[in-house]
Amino acid sequence: MAVKLDGKKLSIKLANDLQADISSLKSQGIVPKLAVILVGDNQASRVYVRNKHRMAEKIGLESLDLRLSKDISEAELLEKIASLNNDSTINGILVQLPLPDQINADRITKAISPKKDVDGFHPYNLGRLFVNDPYAIPCTPNGIMYLLKSYGISVDGKNVVIVGRSKIVGRPLAALMLNQSATVTVAHSHTKNLSEITRQADVLVAAVGRANFIQAKDVKPGAIVIDVGINRNAAGKLVGDVAQTEVAPIAGYLTPVPGGVGPMTIAMLMKQTVEFAKWSKQKK
Ligand code: GUN
Repeated sequence: MAVKLDGKKLSIKLANDLQADISSLKSQGIVPKLAVILVGDNQASRVYVRNKHRMAEKIGLESLDLRLSKDISEAELLEKIASLNNDSTINGILVQLPLPDQINADRITKAISPKKDVDGFHPYNLGRLFVNDPYAIPCTPNGIMYLLKSYGISVDGKNVVIVGRSKIVGRPLAALMLNQSATVTVAHSHTKNLSEITRQADVLVAAVGRANFIQAKDVKPGAIVIDVGINRNAAGKLVGDVAQTEVAPIAGYLTPVPGGVGPMTIAMLMKQTVEFAKWSKQKK
């Protein structure tokens, strides 16, 4: 039976460590502060944003909750970002994705100052990650690497197969894995013979956004399986991209959903904000 990679437990430990860090920063007059922008009323986004604010509050990190109408223009949103870029009390800026159709997400991503880009989605930060000189690292991939490391799992020389090529998970995770000397394959919707490829994986990452996409037949016995999916099944239950019940007896390690990658993402966001606050004083 697979060992559970317990992101929930690890994120609580991380939160405790960060809480101590934040107290010590505050005693030096540094107050880490994160601005989170939510445009519109996407149900899933509201839940994610609420969880971010809750964790911030728990650890003593200040968070600004900016809710904007779904009808806001791109120009208005750009103006809001410019004012946060110029606000020296704000260390991190996050615009929750997806955005409404009238707004170009790439233009928004590029408008956030790279030094406040807690998501690490700005091309400057993605470029630095790609050349193995990272500044900000996207939170979900960073959380996956942190989780593996905490369980003593090295990816050096391992076959890593990432299913999904999104800018948020698949692409940055491929760079992080490569930086740790893994042999990386990124599979996606055009990939042929997907199951043959996933069965070669020592580390298999599912970031597709489809419930039960990875089944027992797709997994090599003993593999480390990372389930990034957050989907609702027909019964409204939260499920990942991996058919967990049938994969668990085969895999060596498995992240649960919920309680795996999700809490790590939020913990990494907090960690990045605290680091930005420290770095803002060191002018890194
Ligand atoms: N939507 C889904 N995941 C993310 C994330 O990590 N950051 C932002 N900004 N939006 C998201």
